Amino acid sequence: MSYRNSIFHGSAAEMAALPDESVDLIFTSPPYEARKVYHTADGDIGRLRGDEFIDALKPIMEECHRVLKPSGNFFLNFQGQYCDGRFSLTEAKIPIVAVEDIGYDYVQPFYWTKTRPKPDNYSRRLKNVNEIIYHFVKDARHYAVYKDSVREPSRYQGHDQNCKLCGSTLPGKMDKRAWKYNPKGRDPGNVIYSKGATGQGSGDTWNKATKRPKKDIHPALMPMELADFFVRYGSTEGDLVLDPFMGSGTTGISAARMGRDFVGYDVSDKYVGEATLRCHEARDWYEEHLRQVG
Ligand SMILES: C[S@@+](CC[C@H](N)C(=O)[O-])C[C@H]1O[C@@H](n2cnc3c(N)ncnc32)[C@H](O)[C@@H]1O
Repeated sequence: MSYRNSIFHGSAAEMAALPDESVDLIFTSPPYEARKVYHTADGDIGRLRGDEFIDALKPIMEECHRVLKPSGNFFLNFQGQYCDGRFSLTEAKIPIVAVEDIGYDYVQPFYWTKTRPKPDNYSRRLKNVNEIIYHFVKDARHYAVYKDSVREPSRYQGHDQNCKLCGSTLPGKMDKRAWKYNPKGRDPGNVIYSKGATGQGSGDTWNKATKRPKKDIHPALMPMELADFFVRYGSTEGDLVLDPFMGSGTTGISAARMGRDFVGYDVSDKYVGEATLRCHEARDWYEEHLRQVG
């Protein structure tokens, strides 16, 4: 069976269906340590904490390294948790394990800042509204990202090459801020603002019949716009996008809607069934869209 556009039931610690260096982009969000137990199947890492959690995540990150192309990108979303009132060191240890034990190069961290975080009620600390997304690659000299696809409109857009202040087109006379702008838009920076992790903001998770978000699909839905950002930034049409913790299929849906192939793993057969259905619907949508435009 071809692995393209398939979601496999089982632990991502062994992604036997995937050949070495076959994947262009990995975007994923593992269960956070000691937080939610999604499933009672063997291999679910969500019930572990601290070094036990890292020991279980490490073979999956090694498999990701094996299947990633030299030009590929690996974006791993994580949020440190409080264990016994102390902030866990796992968030700090993951990049050390990735670089020093597995051999990834660490490009940069991204931050997902929640604009509508869940209310919290801690007396001696403030709520944590950020999640980290580490950008790992196999070789910092050879990876490919698509920066133009995530640029934002510049405030100087439309001023063309004329000085905003005097109208001159002579470089020496122009307002420096105006002539330095990139006509394709500005670098958006490494902070992505999005609502909470319950699937709000994703039209796809909106139940048309009940007019409510389909929160019941998965307890930790990722916002679609977050997946969309990294699929656009880290891959191009025809590429293969892997999510080793596929859950309800958010990464696969985003990939399929943008003309990429998807592949994934999950230890829960319920989520594999749900995600397979949703990702194939997204693929059908994309093929219909292609027929309509041309
Ligand atoms: C945070 S959820 C992913 C949610 C997903 N991004 C979405 O939007 O639906 C993590 C998923 O990892 C799965 N999981 C836990 N341990 C796993 C393992 N060893 N291999 C593959 N999947 C695993 C869980 O069943 C859960 O669905």
